[in-house]
Amino acid sequence: MSEKMNLERRSFLKGTALLAAAGLLEKGQAMMPSEQAAYDKYNACNVPRPTGLLDGEPVLQVPAPDSMGVAFAVTALSNGFVEVAENPQMEGATRFMAEGFPLAGIDDRVLRVRMTGLKPGTKYWYRAGAAKLVHPVGYWTKPSEIVWSSVHTFITAGANAPSHFGMMCDTHAAFEQMAKITKKYRELGTPLVVWNGDIPTSLTNKREDFVKHYLVPPHNDGYAADTAIVLNRGNHDFRGTAANRLCEVMMPRLPTERAMRDIALDRNFAFRMGEVALIGLDTGEDKPDHHPANGGFSRFTPYRVAQAAWLKDQFKRPEIAGAPYIVAFVHIPLFDPRPNANPGTTLEDYAVWHKECADLWSPTLIENGVQLVLAGHQHRYRYDAPTPQRPWAQIVGGGKGKTTFQTLVDCQVEDGELVARVHNTDAGTVVGEHRFKPRAVQGMV
Ligand SMILES: [Fe+2]
Ligand SMILES: [Fe+2]
Repeated sequence: MSEKMNLERRSFLKGTALLAAAGLLEKGQAMMPSEQAAYDKYNACNVPRPTGLLDGEPVLQVPAPDSMGVAFAVTALSNGFVEVAENPQMEGATRFMAEGFPLAGIDDRVLRVRMTGLKPGTKYWYRAGAAKLVHPVGYWTKPSEIVWSSVHTFITAGANAPSHFGMMCDTHAAFEQMAKITKKYRELGTPLVVWNGDIPTSLTNKREDFVKHYLVPPHNDGYAADTAIVLNRGNHDFRGTAANRLCEVMMPRLPTERAMRDIALDRNFAFRMGEVALIGLDTGEDKPDHHPANGGFSRFTPYRVAQAAWLKDQFKRPEIAGAPYIVAFVHIPLFDPRPNANPGTTLEDYAVWHKECADLWSPTLIENGVQLVLAGHQHRYRYDAPTPQRPWAQIVGGGKGKTTFQTLVDCQVEDGELVARVHNTDAGTVVGEHRFKPRAVQGMV
């Protein structure tokens, strides 16, 4: 219900009470005394403007050509809102309510709002807000005025968006190190960053653990308020009893982005950022399903098989098939040059690279001329040049570790080439630069 409608309803209720008091209503039109008392109590309840209701900055997520999600933390039971406009003055702004139908997603900690009907490749200004909810009469709910964040910006995805994006991985709750990555991509003006897995250290046993990792980390000075995050899970993101509650903090992708057959694949993504198609694949855990650590309730092998069918179908979409550059994101690498590297098919140790995923997905990547795979998991930056048998290149990003460094892989199309620059964000240096020619494709979109 809009603010305006709320006001009208309140006016009506007050008016009815006055008319009833003046004896101007026909018999049967007046309220029962008990109901009138409830209305009077409701109207008399003055909800003060809450202080400290917004806990941290908004986190942009699940970017798409026509939609964008925002999640943010609050300190009391609230309804959430986002207002979005094509100008910094917020003139003519459209207001969205927290996702949920028919009940909006009210919550005492996490609010998630999705903006839909947006234009591709377009810069928008937005602000997030919350209205605290109180219950002056039984379950009757009354909101405070909305407390708003400051105004931030984002750019929607699409073939007309900037050909610019980044990849960070294996941050493992090392918040100080991560702040260096987020500072770097904000310096570079990167509009979208794929967070390529292993966000926690180990276990997430309650939703609040996710809140701390994503919405109120110590460094949250707006790391994702003006840069959209695309989350691609790693093996650590599946650990702990709350792992399957991630969607309560970080939104899944819209069901309209995929076929009914793939409805459960709510984290896979395939969309354009300018001349580049970004494709997200989830390698899952780093141990086989029958490993005792999984307790018999993981189904990663059929999950990977399902993604293989989804992947094939993405290349039937003209905007993906016609992209001059295609970059696939995986957490666990799809290749390792060391002959003895653990392929993840045994019960010993854990996957260093993932043979099952490579066998399922690489033929499709090759058939469609995918130039680059961006991976994480090994915590050590490495570049695997393409070969005739494996024509896609692979960049493995750096991560938390005693002898390793965190990286931001920043990718842009420059002078007719896709350039991937690997930043050592601990040292503030560029440690690698890799260039890729456009695909030989017909009818580029
Ligand atoms: Fe990791
Ligand atoms: Fe990992």
